[in-house]
Amino acid sequence: MNNQEFARRRARLKEQLGENAVAIIPAAPMRYRNRDVEYHYRQDSDFFYLSGFPEPEAVIVIKPGREHGEYILFCRERDRDAEIWNGARAGQEGAVEQYGADDSFPIDDIDDILPGLLEGVDRVFYTMGIQPDFDQHVINWVSHLRKQSRTGVHTPGEFVALDHLLHDMRLFKSSQEIKAMRTAAEISAKAHTRAMQVCKPGMKEYQIEAELLHTFMQGGARFPAYASIVGGGANGCILHYTANDDSLKNGDLLLIDAGAEYDYYAADITRTFPVNGKFSKAQKALYEIVLAAQLAAIEQVKPGNHWNDPHEAAVRVITEGLVEVGILKGKVSTLIEKEAYKPYYMHRTGHWLGMDVHDVGDYKIETEWRLLEPGMVMTVEPGLYIPNDSKGVDKKWWNIGIRIEDDVLVTKEGHDILSKDVVKQVDDIEALMATG
Ligand code: GLY
Ligand code: MN
Ligand code: MN
Repeated sequence: MNNQEFARRRARLKEQLGENAVAIIPAAPMRYRNRDVEYHYRQDSDFFYLSGFPEPEAVIVIKPGREHGEYILFCRERDRDAEIWNGARAGQEGAVEQYGADDSFPIDDIDDILPGLLEGVDRVFYTMGIQPDFDQHVINWVSHLRKQSRTGVHTPGEFVALDHLLHDMRLFKSSQEIKAMRTAAEISAKAHTRAMQVCKPGMKEYQIEAELLHTFMQGGARFPAYASIVGGGANGCILHYTANDDSLKNGDLLLIDAGAEYDYYAADITRTFPVNGKFSKAQKALYEIVLAAQLAAIEQVKPGNHWNDPHEAAVRVITEGLVEVGILKGKVSTLIEKEAYKPYYMHRTGHWLGMDVHDVGDYKIETEWRLLEPGMVMTVEPGLYIPNDSKGVDKKWWNIGIRIEDDVLVTKEGHDILSKDVVKQVDDIEALMATG
């Protein structure tokens, strides 16, 4: 992402804020893993989207029409000792020169400066309820101003959540964003391919996870976009399984849900394959249902269709498939109406994807499902899960957990599957695993 991209985003936001308004966006707080050990710092997505600024202890203020600069970045001062221990800081000069701020102040001075920026303003755009400590600061700044109202100071009358404006912008990806997402998906596809090639009965799930992380990092993605799910057999039926510490058994399936984060953008891919390289008859029967459901859902990803069209297509194919193999009995339309598939397919078919793996953006406009438009990116990820306590289901289906997930960009013509580099047809998976 280059500096012009961040500047364009701020300009778009500024237009929407209007006159006599201020937007305030705090950086993500640092978090501790245990005594003296911090988690690797990851900037808040909204904050990074507008600034490209990666440091903690920073606040963005955007004030349209401010004479001395509309984009103000509060950040840490340069500090030789602190920088020797923990790395370089941009400081106020860097905030302006490297990151394009119009004006920059030390974060330690924010209590003195920010109330002044709120003076004479009608509306404050700030999203309450995400960082309670910071909420308190905002309240203090406003009450500080209010105390001076008898001296003629005008205090803001309106608080507006900023996330609505910002998240609608983030829903539509620019060409630079799509490029980053394509790279994230390509690196992740390589990782899944490698997992298929190295997998053998007797390995630990975390040994497969190590292969994924290795491929991510070698590809330039320092971190996974979320904790990788590597679940063999029954563990594949646990939707958010991340323990990843079991042994992989001959005859079981392995479900891997893993994606890299590249330049702040996520990939989110799931593949399911046999630990020993060959699907059993029962595994193959259910796998083909999920695959057909996924392909039918992807077909629905095109401008003009609504958000729920892919889900409805997947539910139909899965219900038909469950009837065909005898897990469900009855008329397909009635079974769909009664949601009879839900014990085996209990999640939705996808979500928006972007800087956050479950990305921002509304799925409904008032009461209607949102129409798909070019530039949106979503996952398509139907599944089937038959745990070993599935009463009334033939035991031959037990311990089969399958999900197939791809990352799909809505284009003018229809869609583009960003994660298409990793195979998902039964024959292709078996052929690839045979080369491992
Ligand atoms: N990896 C999280 C999800 O698929 O939604
Ligand atoms: Mn997903
Ligand atoms: Mn996933």
